[in-house]
Amino acid sequence: QPKRHPNETAKTERLKDFTVDNDGQKLTTNTGLHVAEDEHSLKAGVRGPTLMEDFHFREKMTHFDHERIPERIVHARGAGAHGYFQAYEPLTELTEAGFLQDPSKQTPVFVRFSTVAGSRGSADTVRDVRGFAVKFYTEEGNFDLVGNNMPVFFIQDAMKFPDFIHAVKPEPHNEIPQAQSAHDTFWDFVVHNTETAHMVMWAMSDRSLPRSYAMMEGFGVHTFRLVNAEGKARFVKFHWKPLLGTHSLVWDEVQKLGGKDPDFNRRDLHDSIEAGRCPEWEFGIQVLEEEDEFKFGFDILDPTKLWPEELVPVRKIGKLTLNRNTDNYFAETEQIAFHPGHLVKGIDFSNDPLLQGRLFSYTDTQLSRLGGPNFNELPINRPMCPVHNNQRDGMHRMTINRGPAAYHKNGIAGGSPHPSADGYKHHQEKVEGHVTRERSDSFKDHYSQAALFWNSMSDVEKGHIVSAFSFELGHVKDKALRQAVVDMFANVSGELAAGIAANIGAASPAEADGAAGKSKSGASPALSMMNTVKTP
Ligand code: HEM
Repeated sequence: QPKRHPNETAKTERLKDFTVDNDGQKLTTNTGLHVAEDEHSLKAGVRGPTLMEDFHFREKMTHFDHERIPERIVHARGAGAHGYFQAYEPLTELTEAGFLQDPSKQTPVFVRFSTVAGSRGSADTVRDVRGFAVKFYTEEGNFDLVGNNMPVFFIQDAMKFPDFIHAVKPEPHNEIPQAQSAHDTFWDFVVHNTETAHMVMWAMSDRSLPRSYAMMEGFGVHTFRLVNAEGKARFVKFHWKPLLGTHSLVWDEVQKLGGKDPDFNRRDLHDSIEAGRCPEWEFGIQVLEEEDEFKFGFDILDPTKLWPEELVPVRKIGKLTLNRNTDNYFAETEQIAFHPGHLVKGIDFSNDPLLQGRLFSYTDTQLSRLGGPNFNELPINRPMCPVHNNQRDGMHRMTINRGPAAYHKNGIAGGSPHPSADGYKHHQEKVEGHVTRERSDSFKDHYSQAALFWNSMSDVEKGHIVSAFSFELGHVKDKALRQAVVDMFANVSGELAAGIAANIGAASPAEADGAAGKSKSGASPALSMMNTVKTP
């Protein structure tokens, strides 16, 4: 059994009512009958056919036959651990979220790290984005911060997500490759969807080769809202900053580890916790007043843009510690169901069109992945607080609801369960406009922040980025496509495009330097982002 770390709180033991230990126990069937023999099926004679009436054999085999469930459509490969979150100070002025009020309170969490494109059995060490999903089991319900280790995303609108994932997943005919970016369809998607430029820069950087999950930053990516008890809302971006610092593997290490130890990152997470070296991250927020929404040269609702930390500093508001490994990978890491729409009072969404689409997708996929509408009753998904509503029945229902038929304002049940004045209320944002599929012009700058990223790199990091593009594009069969990528990234930096072109035998782009990346004022590139964004 995994060791318990001395820091562990009683609350992180909340799953123990569901755990079973077999030590010294007699073997039983699922209905509790003691079993006398478990190695030989029941036969008509010692050399005869197996008998249908062998209920122990049938049950054992049937259960085995159904052990697998569908892997996640994305982020299938993951590793998780339990821990707790503790706020540094009351955040009352910004939010009424209970878990951010009391520095003495420890809120239990479960964190699942993942790669995105590979299957459940793929290697940890591939070049890919990493998922960083945190479930806070607060006293006011579960809050899920379903983030990544990069602060932006490839696309702006959820409508393109199925297309994007089809392009990055292995080829349909032979399921090669497991890595995200090493084939024609990924790059073909990139050149036809130039909003990908910024995220591709992150993906080609060392950020996509984390040395350890404990050395990885995390980002909520989207703009959310914090809302205080008076109803005042502010925009917020969420961050995780690892106390060990951010460190990556180099490509040569990745290539070797992929063969020698494809479990490199999950082994490191497990072993560190077992050894009592508990991974820690500080929780950070960037906060913007609502009246500052249009102060920037980018749209704060655009998930391909970050808020430069020079302009909007990150305030550290608490600490996350992981201190307990799972007892059972399937029951915990596989069955956990995150959802960006699991909010608590004091936190709300923004109109980011990627976030809005995610709000539909997660429950929808979990209905099939976890077999029906009752997956929130699975031990790992249960909130710490009681659940009372009029939802009933369905596949695998575990709760035994008592009382009469369930409907609202049920007089026979004394009106319970009843909505309460202190319940969750959506922020009363004013919205207006015509129904349209058009996107605001403020989402149309695809290169400025990609160039900002490139310009912020050291020479060594730039070298790694050029090598990464060159390696990945070297696997692209279509020569015209390789050239199209080089030409596209000339909009980020001429130096970058020329470096790639020289390595892969493409023509150096005509444009000498990525104009988009140059700061016209000579000021820091981040400060050149301080222009008023034009919205319709
Ligand atoms: C997992 C959809 C964008 C982070 C998933 C899953 C789906 C999905 C269907 C599988 C969930 C499950 O089976 O339980 C989408 C859609 C997106 C989108 C439709 C865009 C429209 C993003 C973005 C982020 C992100 C922008 C990061 C901010 C994650 C993470 C997981 C995940 C971390 C794994 C959660 C876990 O560990 O179980 N996504 N996703 N996704 N997604 Fe997204």
